[in-house]
Amino acid sequence: MEENKTAFDYMEALKNMNSGLDYSACVVTYGCQQNEADSEKIAGMLHASGYSIVKEPALADVIIVNTCAVREHAEERALSITGGYKHLKTARPHLKIGICGCMVSKADMSDKIKKSYPYVDFVFGTEKLSHLPEILYRSYEKKKRIFVPNDGETQIAEGLPVIRESTFRAWVSIMYGCNNFCTYCIVPYVRGRERSRRPEMIIEEVRELAASGCKEITLLGQNVNSYGKEFGGECNFATLLSRLCEIEGDFTLRFMTSHPKDASFELIDIMAKNDKIAKHFHLPVQSGSDRMLREMNRHYNKETYLSLVDYMREKMPDIAISTDIIVGFPGETEEDFEDTLELMKRVKYDMIFSFIYSPRTGTPAAKMEQVPDNIKTERMNRLLALQNELLAEKNEAYVGKTMRVLVEGKSKTNEAKMSARTEGNRIVLFDGDESLTGKFINLKITKSAPFALIGETEA
Ligand code: SAH
Ligand code: SF4
Ligand code: F3S
Repeated sequence: MEENKTAFDYMEALKNMNSGLDYSACVVTYGCQQNEADSEKIAGMLHASGYSIVKEPALADVIIVNTCAVREHAEERALSITGGYKHLKTARPHLKIGICGCMVSKADMSDKIKKSYPYVDFVFGTEKLSHLPEILYRSYEKKKRIFVPNDGETQIAEGLPVIRESTFRAWVSIMYGCNNFCTYCIVPYVRGRERSRRPEMIIEEVRELAASGCKEITLLGQNVNSYGKEFGGECNFATLLSRLCEIEGDFTLRFMTSHPKDASFELIDIMAKNDKIAKHFHLPVQSGSDRMLREMNRHYNKETYLSLVDYMREKMPDIAISTDIIVGFPGETEEDFEDTLELMKRVKYDMIFSFIYSPRTGTPAAKMEQVPDNIKTERMNRLLALQNELLAEKNEAYVGKTMRVLVEGKSKTNEAKMSARTEGNRIVLFDGDESLTGKFINLKITKSAPFALIGETEA
């Protein structure tokens, strides 16, 4: 808690320092929901430090780039956008540029920024989020570049201010870090060891969100199923969920991500029993080949994975199931890949996030024998073609049904339509008024298109 006080003290000090200057700040975010949630806290801290929050980097007096390292492409984008800010700094020398997040939590990347990006004022690791006000303050005061790497800090900073992107939808981190060390993945190296927030803190945050009219709350963690391990049986993820379901209000709970090795039948039972929990399960399988799963250090096999899927469908016949799949993991043969396609046909996923394997320096798989790029691309194309086929079938089955959806606002792809999401996270486009945004309504599905359903409001 002492640490929090310090963060708040620095926010106050910055506010005094910048008083009358009318400064603004911009947070640019890459990566997963975990980063989105962190960026909302960064914006909250900057706002409490006297900055107005803007969307346009060119207008800002402070720019924070929150980066991702999960694939090479994510790093390239963050570096190229940072490179683009050089001219902003030349035009406005008082501009402060800071980089944080997973990419700079790798020692080699922090060094690269130090050497090749001299206009970056400060860098801080994922464990150092709450230190931002102090770092920014010192950066003004000392006019020196500041580099604050991760050092295994495990204390969770509670009570930081948050500026949420949406008024009706919110992310709530329930734990940080990852202990699993899947052989392809950089996350455990850049996010540190698993640590869970105290249940009462989470319950309080969800209670406040529900009271403020928030309609959809997504609980976040790299492996939510191992939530609470350090509390020794006092509260696991299933217990946390049932306690959250007791909170009053018209809201839906979602959660991600579940590791199949830790997802439990108890959790599925709790989902089935509670109307507040969206009937959607994101269960990353990564591969349909047992050999690949072993090489990936995933600790489950196809059979145990399918037993979870079957149990979910037995308890909740309409549940939507989504997954992550890696194509071209080192050593993946044509046969291994076909096992993945077979699994897709068996499960009939509602959504698949598929990724071409990207070697991450420092992870075991980066040193294994790699699959040539052309084979990876060819397999990815085949996977996408199959998924489109399977999805078309699935979408077709919704036509004629009435579904409860949460209206998100104007569609980004079709300006004339409004966009909403089903419990299973499917997009439904419909004609309607913008005032429906943030409300639950019923839509009758009239048509299915490749990437969305089309619906109409019921008279
Ligand atoms: N903790 C979550 C997801 C973390 S990263 C989980 O365990 O599922 C999100 C997804 O990115 C992973 O599920 C995986 O499919 C993908 N991914 C991770 N590392 C990757 C790499 N090196 N190359 C390609 N995809 C990767
Ligand atoms: Fe990465 Fe595996 Fe941890 Fe997920 S569970 S973050 S894939 S190491
Ligand atoms: Fe998320 Fe990317 Fe970090 S996926 S945890 S922001 S490496």
